[in-house]
Amino acid sequence: MTRQLLVTSALPYANGAIHLGHLVEYIQTDMWVRFQNLIGNNATYVCADDTHGTPIMLRAEKEGITPEALIARVHQEHLRDFTGFNIAFDLYHSTHSDENRECAETIYLALRDAGLIEVREIEQYYDEEKGMFLPDRFIKGTCPKCGAEDQYGDNCEVCGAAYTPSELKNPRSAVSGSVPVLKPSQHYFFKLSDPRCQQFLRDFTRSAPDGIPVLQHEAANKMQEWLGEPGENKLSDWDISRDAPYFGFAIPDAPGKYFYVWLDAPIGYMGAFKALAKKEGRDFDAVWKAGSKTELVHFIGKDILYFHALFWPAMLHQAGFRVPTRICAHGFLTVDGAKMSKSRGTFITAESYLQRKLNPEWLRYYFASKLNGTMEDIDLNLDDFIAKVNSDLVGKYVNIASRCAGFIKKQFEGVLGQTDRAVFDRIITDEALTEITAAMEARDSARAMRQIMHLADEANLYVNDRQPWLLAKDPEQRAQLHIVASTALNLFRSLSVLLKPVLPALVTQVEGFFNAAPLNWADARHPLPAGHGINDYAHLMNRIERPMVDALIAANAESLQATEVPKAEKANDKKSEKKAANVEAAKDQTNDHISINDFTKVDLRIAKIVNAEHVEGADKLIRLQLDIGETENDQPTYRQVFAGIKSAYDPAQLVGRLTVMVANLAPRKMKFGLSEGMVLAASDADGATPGLYILSPDSGAQPGMRVK
Ligand code: MSP
Ligand code: ZN
Repeated sequence: MTRQLLVTSALPYANGAIHLGHLVEYIQTDMWVRFQNLIGNNATYVCADDTHGTPIMLRAEKEGITPEALIARVHQEHLRDFTGFNIAFDLYHSTHSDENRECAETIYLALRDAGLIEVREIEQYYDEEKGMFLPDRFIKGTCPKCGAEDQYGDNCEVCGAAYTPSELKNPRSAVSGSVPVLKPSQHYFFKLSDPRCQQFLRDFTRSAPDGIPVLQHEAANKMQEWLGEPGENKLSDWDISRDAPYFGFAIPDAPGKYFYVWLDAPIGYMGAFKALAKKEGRDFDAVWKAGSKTELVHFIGKDILYFHALFWPAMLHQAGFRVPTRICAHGFLTVDGAKMSKSRGTFITAESYLQRKLNPEWLRYYFASKLNGTMEDIDLNLDDFIAKVNSDLVGKYVNIASRCAGFIKKQFEGVLGQTDRAVFDRIITDEALTEITAAMEARDSARAMRQIMHLADEANLYVNDRQPWLLAKDPEQRAQLHIVASTALNLFRSLSVLLKPVLPALVTQVEGFFNAAPLNWADARHPLPAGHGINDYAHLMNRIERPMVDALIAANAESLQATEVPKAEKANDKKSEKKAANVEAAKDQTNDHISINDFTKVDLRIAKIVNAEHVEGADKLIRLQLDIGETENDQPTYRQVFAGIKSAYDPAQLVGRLTVMVANLAPRKMKFGLSEGMVLAASDADGATPGLYILSPDSGAQPGMRVK
């Protein structure tokens, strides 16, 4: 039976660039949708930009454009990036659309009619200078628990404590810098604490439509934690309104009140489908009304489970709509074992990857080989990325075709011969296909890729064993050669079928080579017959070379440097908007004095020189490896710094010494490699006294200690 599916990925915020972390999700979803369609199901894939909320409103203001202009620009950028990675949405829409507004209003009014909306007065921080209520993220102050300065209004990044903004000490607005005041306001709440919601969510958590649990094991456990024991009522009502000024949808019958961005964001899935239905004449109700036969499958990151597994199904159900069939959460991407970092250059944007001409299908394959359907984090280990793509895709899979295609072309005028069915059937077994299909269905593409590469190994062993290059030298073996090359190419074709969800662009090329209709899943089991003419073989995929990856990292570290300058300029622009007197005062300050805040922006650290060496081709530089107490996976990691101190020091005398480095200087790509900081040294500016003197701390200082 053909399954009908509506599949979604989370809607990316419309104020940031798509990066490789995002791509874990969009690639995973795209592969799954392609797989479903290849096996004969009918899967539709929609997504949209998540366009509302305070950060987008303020970002647009900062850029001096309207929010509408900002989200229109970002929409183009996001779509460009997704297209570049061969992510094939049926529609990529926007939450700032008429369809979404209609859906949001419908759901809200249904909830209101059901008695599930309550208006309550709350007190919230208000920025009097800016004239707006402040979301938690826009309030900064001193952590009430550990005293760390400059912490957000909801939690402390130093000690990890969670608190409410009113607990924060010395609060100030991150928008204007002024001291915020508590001010009352009427807010609209969705009554999640209502027994109807509680009961529904308990049932939902345990449900298993078509025998498959709606939530992964880990997600169901989380839900149990949030819901508490039966009889316990742990859920609080959800604040769904925000006061003007806000970029979002106005709440019906509530002047000056807007839907909180997270209310209309998941409804964006519905809005996107509504727009698609309009465009393609499809039946909206058949998909979204309660009792729908269409499976609704959401792919999300583990950080937004709360919104998708609690609020969203409860809202849908209570408003009379169908609920998700499945919520598929994935973990977070790390790069070389650490959180993606702008200063290390591992916060890699999709755009930079494409611009530097790395093949998007390398990354698709790598993610496929890592994703296993659980919520575990996945690591992009750059060495492993290079090794795996080169060995699996180029060395195993493509290799089969590149070894055998020439014989068919040169010796048999491009016409395939008989396939050795005994060999073909031994390798492409029903059992293997069933296993790969089940793994893909369960989103365990890691297992599927291992299986497929096992089949590729078998195919290569067959070629090694029959040695077509030797057969080609013996005219008496011509018939054998035809069979061996044809069998190998048909094995390659079957593997291409199985890799098609992962490598759509490459397999399109393969389809051209085989000169036959686009491949479907069932084709894997059936070789092309003797007498079928194929086209010339064109090289399918290059190896990844390490310098390409290094350049990508350097480009991302560099672009940080480039973007930091305008940010600082913008901050100055802001100042100049203030009263003239203030401007003068500010100027005086910047000329003669800096504030303590300016000073503490420089992250000075005690560094131990663990290695020092001359740099070939550089007459001033010494390459230093510096220990500032940083680790990755419990292993110490060192900063590389190129210091212009060759004239004054012999590398050997530096090793083991302590010095002081600037740890938060934007990394610089140099001819010799990445420089990740700066070492402090004294010298006479006029040159009257020659020499260079690096700083040393007093004894007892330890690597990583902050200097201030
Ligand atoms: N706008 C919300 C989602 C609303 S859905 C109704 C949002 N946007 S996001 O841009 O921050 O993230 C979009 C998706 O990308 C989320 O599912 C998020 O978990 C995922 N990822 C963002 N960074 C990620 C990694 N570093 N690694 C893996 N996934 C990541 O959340
Ligand atoms: Zn703290």
